[in-house]
Order: sequence, then structure tokens, then C-alpha cells
Amino acid sequence: MHNMTIQEEVQQFGYVTKSLPAGIDVKGKIFRLKQEKNAVILAHYYVADEIQAIADFVGDSFALAQYSQKVNADMIVFCGVHFMAETAKILNPRIKVVLPDLHAGCSLADAAPEEEFRVFKAQHPEAVVVSYINCTAAVKAMSDYICTSSNAVSVVKSIPGDKEIIFAPDGNLGRYVSKVTGRKMHIWDGACIVHVNISEAKLVQLMKSQPDAQLIAHPECQSSILDKAQFIGSTKALIDYVQNSTHSTFIVATEAGILYKMREAAPGKKIFPAPAMENNTCACAECPYMKMNTLEKVYNAMHFEAPQIQIEPHIQEGALKALHNMLSI
Ligand code: 13P
Ligand code: SF4
Repeated sequence: MHNMTIQEEVQQFGYVTKSLPAGIDVKGKIFRLKQEKNAVILAHYYVADEIQAIADFVGDSFALAQYSQKVNADMIVFCGVHFMAETAKILNPRIKVVLPDLHAGCSLADAAPEEEFRVFKAQHPEAVVVSYINCTAAVKAMSDYICTSSNAVSVVKSIPGDKEIIFAPDGNLGRYVSKVTGRKMHIWDGACIVHVNISEAKLVQLMKSQPDAQLIAHPECQSSILDKAQFIGSTKALIDYVQNSTHSTFIVATEAGILYKMREAAPGKKIFPAPAMENNTCACAECPYMKMNTLEKVYNAMHFEAPQIQIEPHIQEGALKALHNMLSI
């Protein structure tokens, strides 16, 4: 059997599989590589604590997009999921963007395949297309505006009232935006497997046992959970809310990785993650894709500069335009 090349490994496994010797100082090696390669490490709030701890910037999807657009470096190491790394590359094509594991996908991006979306769009030829940033670059290129959970309401509000709107691919976010803005939209019914796995029954039990707690939720949750929430917002908005609120106890209905920065921002407060239907290691909501990022894969991605994100030239222009339309609102 021949030794696999890096490209063969990435093709077969989605990441570089070389393992580091046991006991090695991986963080130290990552820091040295960062300087050598003039790299920045970006992380979403849902990745493991130890990765958030070494990142140069941790943010929600919107802040990560803004940061990627402006950053001056030779390499972005994107500790998040595939559509986020693609977004960084679209916004800053000059920079090498590596994703520690190419298989770190997203159920929302998977819910809207390019060809099916093209057909849906053709059924509503007059509609303005607003796509949640959790979609593929190809779907972005077919969109007029991109939005994130922090600006979906303002993006939809900016569209003249007499225009039809397609909203994709998150059905829960779409229905929430429709409720807040009063706009009827053609909503693509995709879902985030992590947020819809939050158990309403177990949540109600937890709320009973913590009567002083405020429930705060991400808009990817189902409407039955959003209806019970005192505050709804993006991951960054949820962290800011807990930090600035006069309340001291919270139940947080989103992916549990958020607790790392939330507890750092509001050290004195009691924070409970919302319970998931299926029991996993934490009995809370965990994104299996975000958790594919490990320190070893981060190191390998930087060292071997693989897997790298490439955007097909015919997609770049349209996707960039839709992202700019969001960033300029
Ligand atoms: P935000 O980063 O916009 O809060 O979205 C959460 C999410 O599910 C990212 O995949
Ligand atoms: Fe996608 Fe949901 Fe994971 Fe976010 S938490 S990356 S929306 S599957």
C-alpha cells in the first residue's frame, strides 16, 4: 500500500489524518505556526471550548463574516462549518482559507440542494430571494440578499412591502421573521438538526424546577419553544442579553458551546443549557459538525494548508453580491 498524499487523505477522510506524538504541546505548535504563516484563527461559539480559547476571534455568523472581510492575513483557519469557511473565502478571495474538517457541514445547507432550489426559485420568478447564510455558495449565488440570525428581520424589513419574498433554507427562522415583520413569504422548510432536537417536554420540566430563570432562545428553534422565550436572538445577542440583564438565572435554548463565552461574559450568573430529546454526552443540544473541529485537525490544517476552500469562479460574483447586499444594510 502506498503512503497517501495529503490530497488523497483529504479526499478520502475530509481532513489530514496525521497524528501528533502523544504529550506534544499542540497549542504551542499552533501558536508558532500562526506566526510563521501569518494566520488568524476564527471560531464560532459552538466549537469546543479549547478551540475557542486559542482563537484570535470568536463570533456569531455575522461577526465572523464581517471579520473575514476585513482581516489582513495570509491564512484564515476557520473553526466552524463549511458554509462559514466558504463565506470567508467569498468575502476575501485573496486569503487562503482552511477548514480543519471538510465534512463539518450543516443540515440547513444540506436541506437546500442547488438544483432543487433553482426549481423553487423559478416557481416564484418575481420574488426577492433572501437566503440565510447557512446555505451553500451556489445557493448564495442565486440569492439577492444573505441574512444571518442577527439581521434577518432588518433585511426582510428593508424589502419594499409590495415585493414577494422567498426565504430559505431555515423554516423556523423564516416563520419567526414572518411573524415579527408581518410579511408573508415563500419559506423553504429546512431545519437545524441541533435546535429542533431541543425537547419541549424536558424544557418545560426544567422551567418548572427553575421558576426564576428566563428562557432565551435562538430563532432556529421551533415556534413552540420560541413562543415561551423572553428573548430571541443570535448567539452573540444571547450572550449580550445575559451579560446586560438584571436577571441572574437563564435557560439557554441553543447549542451548548455558547456556554463557554456566556459564562466568561457573565461570571456570576446561573446558566442552564436547554435539554435535548436524545441523550448525548451533555444531555443538551450539541452540533456534531461543529464538534468535528479538534486541536489536532487545526494544527494539521495549518501545517499542510489543507483542506483549503475554493469557490468556483461562476459562483463567486453572485454570492459576493448577495453578501454585500447584507453587509451594506
Ligand atoms: P448565529 O451564529 O447567527 O447565531 O447562528 C447560529 C448557527 O446555527 C450557526 O450555524
Ligand atoms: Fe448547522 Fe445547526 Fe450545526 Fe448551526 S448548529 S452548523 S445550523 S446543524
